Amino acid sequence: MSTSPATGQRSRPDDLIVTLVHQSLRDDAARLAGALAAVGPGDRPGRVAAIGACYGQYRGQLDLHHRHEDELFFPALAARVGSEAMHLDELTAQHHALDTALQAVCDRLAALADPAGDFGADHAGAVAALSAMTELLLAHLTLEEKHALPLYQTEITAAENRELEARARKATPRDRARFMIPWLVTHADQDQRTALFRSIPPLRLLYWLNLRYYRRFEAALAPAA
Ligand SMILES: [Fe+2]
Ligand SMILES: [Fe+2]
Repeated sequence: MSTSPATGQRSRPDDLIVTLVHQSLRDDAARLAGALAAVGPGDRPGRVAAIGACYGQYRGQLDLHHRHEDELFFPALAARVGSEAMHLDELTAQHHALDTALQAVCDRLAALADPAGDFGADHAGAVAALSAMTELLLAHLTLEEKHALPLYQTEITAAENRELEARARKATPRDRARFMIPWLVTHADQDQRTALFRSIPPLRLLYWLNLRYYRRFEAALAPAA
């Protein structure tokens, strides 16, 4: 266990990345819902396809976050505190339920983008699927923040967390990172942004290099002109 020689206190993991991921997932679930609610029959395929492409990136980030939790962070915590204390079975079941819900949104958005489809029925189906996915997601994030993350803070050391985060970064495909870096930075407040660039200095340049790529997808969430 790593402790500060000056204070004798154990150094805690930096939770900035997971905080930003959860914050970005929550914010963009709401923004996706707003963008989807605003489309009409004349937005097919155009704006609907753009929302679908943005959703594809959003889903990619959520899939990756869950993979890192399933393969790295959750096993490390379970080894320390036991699976029951951190509600591992429930969290894992929620990951699986979300996989199904995420695919349903994908299917519904694809159906809605077809100009030959029944707009009213397809729109209602897509809105309902996104709403169902969001409900599962919010319940999942809340459970994780209530049970797993507080234990992670007290039972995993800062050094162990740095090692796990380094492995997660290494296991992040380049295409996912291209979207993820500007996605997290644009959802950060000023203090979080400063802390992020200070803790991982290359992110500042990678943010600027990938911002245009990110905006190409994110533009679909802006209110219609
Ligand atoms: Fe999770
Ligand atoms: Fe999470």
